[in-house]
Amino acid sequence: MKALVTGAAGFVGSTLSGRLLADGWSVVGVDALTPYYDPALKLENLDGLTGDFTLHKARLQDLDLEELLADVDVVFHQAGQPGVRASWGQEFSVYTEHNIEATQQLLEAARSAPRLRRLVYASSSSVYGDAQRYPTVETDRPAPVSPYGVTKLAGEHLCSLYAVNFGVPTVSLRYFTVYGPRQRPDMAFTRFLTAARTGGSLRLYGTGEQIRDFTFVEDVVSANVLAATQDVPAGTVLNIAGGTNVSVLAVFDIIREVSGRPLAIDRFPKSDGDVFRTGGDATRARELLGWVPQVGIEEGLRRQWEWVEARRA
Ligand code: UGA
Repeated sequence: MKALVTGAAGFVGSTLSGRLLADGWSVVGVDALTPYYDPALKLENLDGLTGDFTLHKARLQDLDLEELLADVDVVFHQAGQPGVRASWGQEFSVYTEHNIEATQQLLEAARSAPRLRRLVYASSSSVYGDAQRYPTVETDRPAPVSPYGVTKLAGEHLCSLYAVNFGVPTVSLRYFTVYGPRQRPDMAFTRFLTAARTGGSLRLYGTGEQIRDFTFVEDVVSANVLAATQDVPAGTVLNIAGGTNVSVLAVFDIIREVSGRPLAIDRFPKSDGDVFRTGGDATRARELLGWVPQVGIEEGLRRQWEWVEARRA
């Protein structure tokens, strides 16, 4: 099996590429290495990948996508401009470029890809905004509260549109706050654990009572592999939610326990676009894919702490 992994040098993309290679897939990676965070960290994510792997350092829009997809069985579209907090302001075109336009170009090429059996789109819990109810089900009305969430929802709608009109075999996975080794440096756990390691202070946005359904990266990778290989209808949308409904304050307690270090906390106002709570009902992913998250928050944080510690060298 041959896969195209977009965003292959990113947090989820690189972990997924490693898993696919270990399972014997051929992997063609694409990564624009955008400067949202240090591209050197992304290239570090690719260290140690072994097997049939090639990387194109380019934007999807600048590649001949039809040629790239000519012998590909599955596309894992992980590329995107991340960052809920950074998506306000003058830089919105960066979000439309990487999250909407790139997705549309990829879907256009997918229409005529001769071997394509699945296109998995990395969607986001941020499409829900402050949800109608918890746990949130896929049919609840999406209403993003950040510009980032708007672009991820637009990308998801494009996938459904190309599935309905042209039979492109898309599956959208709504990831709920992914964490674990290689987590992006702007995300909460990497920041908190790095503060624990260095003795520096961390930033707490808001009261800390906000709740997240944190999902361990290897569980997200497994969901991708299952979405690629199980028989699901084109246009399917699934919550990929780890089932860990914990507050940020509760996370601090686990980090103190796991690291054995105190935490110095600087308080800041709640950031714009930050939802108070996420919590996904993953029943549909279980029924359609057989996906059940395996890693709980204590174990997952311990594994991310080991990674943060190992990077000290
Ligand atoms: C995360 C990802 O960053 C998004 O790309 C993704 O789309 C989204 O999950 C999702 O699930 O859809 P977020 O939940 O904000 O967004 O992830 P974290 O950066 O892990 O933040 C978790 C909580 O900690 C938020 O309430 C945030 O405000 C808070 N936080 C974050 C802090 O208090 N301090 C920080 O330094 C960073």
